[in-house]
Amino acid sequence: MTQPPDPHPRQKASATLAGDQPAQSAEIRRGLEGVVAGDTAISDVDGQRCQLIYRGYPIDALAGRASYEEVSYLLLYGALPTRSQLADWSRELASRRILDPPLPAILQQLPPHADPMALLRSAVSLLGLYDPKAEEESLEAVRRKAVTVIASTPTIVATLWRLRTGGRALPPKSGLSHAANFLWMLLGTEPTEQQASALDAYFTLLADHGFNASTFTARTVTGTKADYYSAIVAAIGSLKGPLHGAANRKAMEMLLEIGTAEQVEPYVQRMLTDHKRFMGFGHRVYKGEDPRAKHLKRIAHALGQASGEMKWFAISERLQEVVWEAKRLSINVDFYSASLLHYLGIPTELFTTMFACARMAGWSAHVIEQAGDNRLIRPLARYVGPHNLPFVPLEHRAPS
Ligand code: CMC
Repeated sequence: MTQPPDPHPRQKASATLAGDQPAQSAEIRRGLEGVVAGDTAISDVDGQRCQLIYRGYPIDALAGRASYEEVSYLLLYGALPTRSQLADWSRELASRRILDPPLPAILQQLPPHADPMALLRSAVSLLGLYDPKAEEESLEAVRRKAVTVIASTPTIVATLWRLRTGGRALPPKSGLSHAANFLWMLLGTEPTEQQASALDAYFTLLADHGFNASTFTARTVTGTKADYYSAIVAAIGSLKGPLHGAANRKAMEMLLEIGTAEQVEPYVQRMLTDHKRFMGFGHRVYKGEDPRAKHLKRIAHALGQASGEMKWFAISERLQEVVWEAKRLSINVDFYSASLLHYLGIPTELFTTMFACARMAGWSAHVIEQAGDNRLIRPLARYVGPHNLPFVPLEHRAPS
């Protein structure tokens, strides 16, 4: 009886290779590690020097100094805005922050307890469905769509959460920044200056990051000449995974499970014994610490002090030390994002949607860049399954 093809044939690859055609003998980098898949002028992720640059500006120069409004403009237009350009851009964002009908009514029909990233993915898809110009391809049209999506994502996230918790959706407030508006719409109180600038810096630090999985997904979809919304919806799907954007949520769950700084060492020991991964640690590209992490750590520390509850910061800092001692693993962007977002009063379930809110600017810039110099993204695969199996008619097939 012929066995069905092994669904996990990777380990047997060399045994089943047929012939030495070029595609068969080509080197395969699992997970495309180290592969340069294209050019970009949007951000530079320098893994050796542990630096991140947006359009020529080191992230260290922008963090805490340029607002998310300025950075999203920089990513989309390629230069920092002048005062009047920033005023126009901020006005444009403000005008698109309110959800157009029928979206508010439809959001009320969505299953309130579904995963927030699944809800966001569906809501952005709906934005596209109700945009009569969704298929327009011109640069101007794509930028217009990008403004809508960047501006309205925080409104969508806050609205969905308030519906889930039995509250009334709050409209955005004029005069508040992008970040401050989110906190207002979610929590129903205007944030302090410190809270607003903490979230603003978080959004800024996470706005773009080279060809990470979700951005590469967006570029791959754009490469087929599908519309902007399809690319962003696919990117949201990619970000949803725990090895990517959901690591911030998992990192917070880890802190909650640990509970006290004294419990860090036994927790780490258990994790090591069980060969489990520490969420918010490790990175494919950075050979040392993620350059965003120190900024997030500083902000989380300040928020902890202001809240009078240093516990979450203390657990994080101890965990950072113990994991480093045990495994020489550095923290990544998601690690201190967890305590930072928690100190802002953002529910853990929403953490990955916060990452998505920030990354909307980067994804949009990459869609525009890909469309501007497009070639279909279509790599090869090395086939490692069987060849030339004799066809067995249905009536003669036996269960395996
Ligand atoms: N905890 C424990 N061990 C780890 C971790 C971790 N967080 N990260 C890497 N390792 C170990 C891994 O077990 C493996 O060891 P061995 O060779 O003995 O099996 C080795 O390091 C290499 O791991 P890898 O999975 O081949 O490395 P990668 O480059 O494919 O993984 C990563 C990168 C981010 C997926 C991984 O570090 C990880 O799973 N981290 C935890 C999840 C996380 O924090 N993700 C956020 C990434 S950064 C922001 C973003 O993209 O959203």
